[in-house]
Amino acid sequence: MAILLTGGMGFIGSHTAVELINEGYEVIIADNLSNSSPKVLERIETITGTKPLFYEIDVAVKKDVEKVFDENKIEGVVHFAGYKSVPESTRIPLSYYRNNIDTALTVLEVMKERDCRTFVFSSSATVYGDKNKAPFNEEMPTSTSTNAYGNTKLMIEQIVRDFSASWEDFSAVLLRYFNPIGAHPSGLIGEAPDGIPNNLMPYITQTAVGVREFLGVFGTDYDTPDGTGVRDFIHVVDLARGHVAAIGYALKSKGTEAVNLGTGNGSSVLEVVHTFEEANDLKIPVKLLPRRPGDVATSFALATKAKELLGWEAKLTLFDMCKDSWNWQKNNPKGYN
Ligand code: WQD
Repeated sequence: MAILLTGGMGFIGSHTAVELINEGYEVIIADNLSNSSPKVLERIETITGTKPLFYEIDVAVKKDVEKVFDENKIEGVVHFAGYKSVPESTRIPLSYYRNNIDTALTVLEVMKERDCRTFVFSSSATVYGDKNKAPFNEEMPTSTSTNAYGNTKLMIEQIVRDFSASWEDFSAVLLRYFNPIGAHPSGLIGEAPDGIPNNLMPYITQTAVGVREFLGVFGTDYDTPDGTGVRDFIHVVDLARGHVAAIGYALKSKGTEAVNLGTGNGSSVLEVVHTFEEANDLKIPVKLLPRRPGDVATSFALATKAKELLGWEAKLTLFDMCKDSWNWQKNNPKGYN
């Protein structure tokens, strides 16, 4: 009995593969490598001693997904596959809708055909929109965002809920990630963005390694303790363990639950910069810049549902996240290249 990870070669997928293997699960990965490296597979093997079975396929192509189910006994699916860049999604929204919705629909269709009843979805705190006030809890109304990426997450949550309502034995957990950073402490797997990073931590580490000249801090006049944006940064290893807990829960329940994966604490952009400097004995040149369009001032989770329902909580600190992010970047200055 295996767990299929679609998009399992990516940043969060690869860390989840490691934690599932560590917990004794058989892991199978399906990924078209559109935004990931084949080297991830060897790295997972180095860390765990096990090389997952790998299918280089596009999970929007139904016959290819059916083949994976025909050749294996798949007990559950963790669905990561999808495009994930917010700014890119505003430039090419149709590609985001086509790819993200198609992959989700195809995977769910094949699960129904093959009577596979356990599903975990890689959703995002972006579904809380800009009207709710942090801490965000799972009962709050969700809303559309200003970008197609966020809207695909919201739509897929709805698709899963409708599908779940039609199939009593189906079980799904919609995991709403806050801001995953950090890397595996081995320094063998981590975040490897293509081109100029959009997200804070890869920008910091690329500045530290000398690829970028300085970090632009977007907005210093927010209603926050130091004026910079506040986010719930979560170590990717904690996040990955949240998926293990979610699969364990979903395998023995029915119906759909949305669950936040966050620490429950907010840290400001400047706090992250200072913790990074302290943890790694480095200096990050910063330039204070105007706000970035579309950003909210403060986002952090109410993390109690994950603890009550899944028995999971984040354990690693911002210091750990900063240390491990740098350890990954300095050992892999060009990512997997
Ligand atoms: C965090 C803070 C920025 C870069 C986004 C998506 C979300 C999820 C994760 C993923 C903000 C500030 C950033 C920089 C900065 N998506 N910042 N300088 O926007 O909270 O979440 O990524 O796949 O759905 O919306 O994360 O890391 O981009 O920004 O000052 O160079 O850092 O303004 O306050 P965000 P982020």
